[in-house]
Amino acid sequence: MPRDAIRFLRRGHVVELPRSLPPTTMLLDWLRLHEGACGTKEGCNEGDCGACTVVLRRATPQGLTYTPVNACILMAGQTDGAEVITVEDLADGAVLHPVQQAMVDVHGSQCGFCTPGFVMALFAHYHDTTPQRGSRQGVIDQIAGNLCRCTGYRPIVEAGMAACAQPAPDTFDASARQTAERLAAFDDAADLLVGSPERFFAAPASTASLAKVLVEHPDATILAGGTDVGLWVTKALRQMDKIVWLGRARDLAELRDEGDHLLIGAGVTYAQAQGAMAAIDPDIAELWRRIGGTQVRASGTICGNIANGSPIGDTPPALVALGATLVLQKGERIRRLPLEDFFRAYKVQDREPGEFVRAVEVPKLRAGEVFRACKLSKRNEQDISAVMMGMKLTITDRRIAAARVAFGGMAATPKRAAVTEAALIGASLDDEASWHQAMTALDQDFTPIDDMRASGTYRRRAARGLLQRALAEMAGAAPQDTRVLGLRAAE
Ligand SMILES: Cc1cc2nc3c(=O)[nH]c(=O)nc-3n(C[C@H](O)[C@H](O)[C@H](O)COP(=O)(O)OP(=O)(O)OC[C@H]3O[C@@H](n4cnc5c(N)ncnc54)[C@H](O)[C@@H]3O)c2cc1C
Ligand code: FES
Ligand code: FES
Repeated sequence: MPRDAIRFLRRGHVVELPRSLPPTTMLLDWLRLHEGACGTKEGCNEGDCGACTVVLRRATPQGLTYTPVNACILMAGQTDGAEVITVEDLADGAVLHPVQQAMVDVHGSQCGFCTPGFVMALFAHYHDTTPQRGSRQGVIDQIAGNLCRCTGYRPIVEAGMAACAQPAPDTFDASARQTAERLAAFDDAADLLVGSPERFFAAPASTASLAKVLVEHPDATILAGGTDVGLWVTKALRQMDKIVWLGRARDLAELRDEGDHLLIGAGVTYAQAQGAMAAIDPDIAELWRRIGGTQVRASGTICGNIANGSPIGDTPPALVALGATLVLQKGERIRRLPLEDFFRAYKVQDREPGEFVRAVEVPKLRAGEVFRACKLSKRNEQDISAVMMGMKLTITDRRIAAARVAFGGMAATPKRAAVTEAALIGASLDDEASWHQAMTALDQDFTPIDDMRASGTYRRRAARGLLQRALAEMAGAAPQDTRVLGLRAAE
């Protein structure tokens, strides 16, 4: 029998959510409206401003993790098995947490509306164990998903650096062992189903159970990180009666290095895949840094980005260029297809009812292969792209022997540039004139549209420019001459 209650830890107590709670209740609403914990603020209600940031503490084989999430777009059921920490919980009696004290010391708050969100993002950073903790860039990246409209970011960054550079153990460290034991005790590895057959929140504990639930309920909404689905609730006000969250299926959260490729399961978040993906190429590292902000990368999955089928999703062009393969499952049947074949038309994918994305296989670069990815967006961080290019070339004796080029934002789906690829074959890195045929071929591959992000004309010109720049860099131009910012510019 599946467990029929969502449980999480809160201020030392186990909370069981009422079974009558609608399946799409957001954590922010539960905190503010049910628990009355109003320290966590609602700003945009769409994951963009970070005012609603809370931290989920979970027990993992690597120890306790502190994950900052946007409570406005996180369904309450997604907290199952975690400890929920909000801004009210940080101070130890009258003594502020070091992150809060640093905000006071450097005047990091004025009207204060954004402050709980910044404090919680910085609190997660305080417990980060990577070398970036407390560095200027580390703090900037950490708060890229938080907006402040009155203080200005300099003091907030200073507060983060001051608090996080040499963090002393806090009360959360002091209770870590006890909390880890309590969280581990939650871990019953049971399927979860709360509600009735007509209206439920389900969280299968394995891929096999997930497959079964989806065959029984092909009309259910699959929920991964919820960074797209959450907005269907808060902004589109869509009625969704059946939610199947895949975040508890442990075998779907696998990221395996298979030698020549990575196998990334459907439960793997951007943050979890960051190191392995960044190791493929510096441009992937930079692309990852610019997908959403910390909170979005902590919840959002790569397979969710693919399954969503958006023409402006950031990962599909890069993954298609790398030659990724998608693994889909329905019941016990598993099939694999080249990623580019998954996208059929605007928001139409090659996926049957009851079928789900199980994993994506991402090839690493082989000898002779070079890769470039570039995202153009209005804001550097936390913004969807206007144009996104991924390109992998095989170079032999400084001539292009094979090409895979894909774009986002140029058509109704992420799409390979077949005519451009053909025109690139045989071009010489030493003969710029030979690139021009490929640059003009882009017009045969794409007829981009005007929308609020960019005009069709801008997109066409930008795509040409990206192709030219990538070729110039591959030919030997110093990246700092071709890029304003970014990791490769530092090469
Ligand atoms: C503030 C903000 C910033 C963002 N910035 C970016 C950005 O910079 N670049 C970018 O590309 N995107 C961005 N996004 C969009 C979003 O974060 C990504 O598309 C994300 O990868 C979605 O993954 P998820 O796990 O959250 O998916 P969910 O929201 O859970 O699901 C997305 C869709 O995929 C389906 N789905 C999920 N997993 C599966 C599966 N395994 N099998 C079948 N169907 C599945 C769902 O039913 C839904 O249709 C942003 C979103 C927000 C809110
Ligand atoms: S309220 Fe803005 S991110 Fe949640
Ligand atoms: S202090 Fe007012 S919005 Fe940040």
